Amino acid sequence: SMADTLCEPLASRGVTRRSFLAFCGTVAAAIGIEGITEVEVAQAIEEKLLIGKAEGALLPVIWMELGSCTGCTESLAQADDPDPATIIMEYISLNYTETLGAGAGYSLEEAREETIKHADGKYVLVIEGAVMTACDGYALTVGDGPDHKPIPVCTPDGPLAEACKHAAAVIAAGSCAVDGGFVAAYPNPMGACGIQKFMKDNGIDTPVVNVPSCPVNPARLVAVIVEFILTGKLPALNGFNMPSAFYNQTIHDNCPRRGHFENGEFVYKFGTKEESMGYCLYPVGCKGPQTKSNCAQVRWNRRVSWCIDSGSPCIGCSCSDPTTTTYNWYDSNTPFLGRIKRVRLGSLRFDVTPVALGITGLMAAALVVHGMGFKITGRTDGGAPFEKAKEWEIKHGKVVVDEPAKTESATESAKEE
Ligand code: SF4
Ligand code: F3S
Repeated sequence: SMADTLCEPLASRGVTRRSFLAFCGTVAAAIGIEGITEVEVAQAIEEKLLIGKAEGALLPVIWMELGSCTGCTESLAQADDPDPATIIMEYISLNYTETLGAGAGYSLEEAREETIKHADGKYVLVIEGAVMTACDGYALTVGDGPDHKPIPVCTPDGPLAEACKHAAAVIAAGSCAVDGGFVAAYPNPMGACGIQKFMKDNGIDTPVVNVPSCPVNPARLVAVIVEFILTGKLPALNGFNMPSAFYNQTIHDNCPRRGHFENGEFVYKFGTKEESMGYCLYPVGCKGPQTKSNCAQVRWNRRVSWCIDSGSPCIGCSCSDPTTTTYNWYDSNTPFLGRIKRVRLGSLRFDVTPVALGITGLMAAALVVHGMGFKITGRTDGGAPFEKAKEWEIKHGKVVVDEPAKTESATESAKEE
């Protein structure tokens, strides 16, 4: 029966049927198809991935890792305590693993080409990590060419472009794949960029789904793939080709500490009473107001918790702009544990002083791109009121300029009020 199909592989890895169904519930909610139940999601996963496999109808997925820390793979693997997402991904990518993982060097490349040929236009390509364009493409190489030279991956006619061209869809898993992420941090010596930009630059028009965060969230990635399996279509996307269901609201919009923000109850320093009271983390660097991501709903680490619930400010790891490398989340959001007093535009740096909050045209443009312009300028339509944050910035204008939180002085000036 349907229920038995996945039971054995799940049980042998210590995952109960109940927790599998709970996971499917999260996926069902995440994919936002009206009225779909966790049982239907479970059925789709089991029939299309397992039974489908036996009939040769398995959805083939190719997973290419580019310039990365392998954190996205780690996020899915969680080998010590596998998540249903892990096991599902193992089944989904079995095709790729079996075909490509068995070989090495030239034979591996040959196997990849075979896979692309046999599933032309039908497979999903998952990209982990940043495209690396520097050194004439030799920043990232694979295998062993016919002349025993390494093959550059990220060239206009290299293996990456080939895999993108023939895919049904490309999923950029994690912020590095979306816009270069931390790999593209200034001054970006490896010419890192996201897969969407790489494809556009090389005239490849395969649809792209961007799923930023650092690392990728396993439930979000599986939800995109499952929706594709269920409907044959990609999820509804916003202007950044990100699933609207995941990326259209800010962390701040859904934050459990939001009441404290509204009441002006802030943590100015870690290890204080305010911290133990669970007050708002804005002064210690929370980027929740400018970060669009549904972490509060989808959660992390087998849905046990997420950044703000576990006491950390959001460091804005989902901030991404697939059209450029300039606004990667690392450059945009450091210092992580301080308020941003300096906005970065490529190699340019702007100090956000109370005067700058009066907003010059260029500054306003920078802030709009950072998703905070309409809030910081006090125009609150279409988002959360940002007046309190603005007040805080003006009162504490001298605190923290582009370096980790000087919480001592923040506390002092807070006390003075
Ligand atoms: Fe939550 Fe951060 Fe917003 Fe405070 S600033 S309410 S901690 S998202
Ligand atoms: Fe990243 Fe912030 Fe979510 S740091 S994981 S976007 S809470």
